Amino acid sequence: MQRLLDEGNVSAYLIERGILREGEECAVGSAGDGNINWVRRVRGSAGRSCIVKQARDALEKFPQYRADTARLIFEARYMEVARPLDSSGVLPAILHFDEANRILVLQDLGTVPCMGEQLDGGADLDRALAELVAFLARVHRATSDADLDGRFQNDQMRRLHGDHIFALPFRENDFELAPEVAKRASAIWCDTTLVERADRAYRLYLEARGGLVHADVQSSNVLIASSGPVLLDAEIAHVGDPAFDLGTLVAHVYLPALARREVPRAETTARLVRSAYAAERPVSDEFSQRVDTYAAIEMIRRTIGAARVECMNEAAAAMRCLDFAEPILRGERRLAS
Ligand SMILES: Nc1ncnc2c1ncn2[C@@H]1O[C@H](COP(=O)(O)OP(=O)(O)O)[C@@H](O)[C@H]1O
Ligand SMILES: [Mg+2]
Repeated sequence: MQRLLDEGNVSAYLIERGILREGEECAVGSAGDGNINWVRRVRGSAGRSCIVKQARDALEKFPQYRADTARLIFEARYMEVARPLDSSGVLPAILHFDEANRILVLQDLGTVPCMGEQLDGGADLDRALAELVAFLARVHRATSDADLDGRFQNDQMRRLHGDHIFALPFRENDFELAPEVAKRASAIWCDTTLVERADRAYRLYLEARGGLVHADVQSSNVLIASSGPVLLDAEIAHVGDPAFDLGTLVAHVYLPALARREVPRAETTARLVRSAYAAERPVSDEFSQRVDTYAAIEMIRRTIGAARVECMNEAAAAMRCLDFAEPILRGERRLAS
């Protein structure tokens, strides 16, 4: 039986595991924008603060969905494999991992903004994002020939995630959209080229070869701390196509820029990010094309799918994003690289 944490028992748990001192008082609060797991910030009266994350069967904000709690084991394993390659301190330290109860206690980076909040406000993240992708490239490079698949049998999360990216947004659905955007979404579902290209990308994403991918390098999982970028939430980690990590990140550079009508600025950042990646791990043109395809799909699904980004709530922004991403998915245009 899993021992479930709550606001009332988490401090006793942390004392028992040696994270907080005996008799220490603590304050338990929310820890930002998670959807999937029970995540809390716990501050001890002696000044220490940590993040406690527990994976449960029912997803935190979507309890109608259930997913294997082993996802937290894959998150811990990703950090274990990637840590030796983390020369710039992109990963938070693990203070405690309780595999039996699916609890991960992490170093608290504080209430720092995530990449999306920063880009929505027009911040320049060129250096931080270049550092982040250099880390991803090192992980991809070091794991390209490694026999890791047996340790990352994360098929359930991989599919759940994949369905929401490549399948559901491209099939008839009842996601709530402004009328103009809904009309455009229906046109996408009927467009065999777009649907086939999304299906093909899904098959590539599911292939168990390439390298160890984080698989969820999106805005809210990247914090921008004063020490540099921090990458969280590796619970979808698997052995797969490294282009997927880069494509996802690139999409999240373009999304706020499309909303702000600042595409040239995003192009500069995206170019820089891609060259920082290639400096660590040389890439083929075929790889770059896959990055473009994954990026276009991510932009589309964040505009018409279930997990939309806030900056695409305005219909005009959504239409601009679709105008931009569709020709890329069709293969008629390329992203800056
Ligand atoms: N080590 C940390 N330091 C500071 N904030 C964190 C840390 N870990 C998580 N958070 C905050 O909690 C949120 C949810 O954590 P995350 O690991 O992404 O869980 P979920 O799987 O539920 O999305 C993050 O988006 C971030 O705002
Ligand atoms: Mg998250």
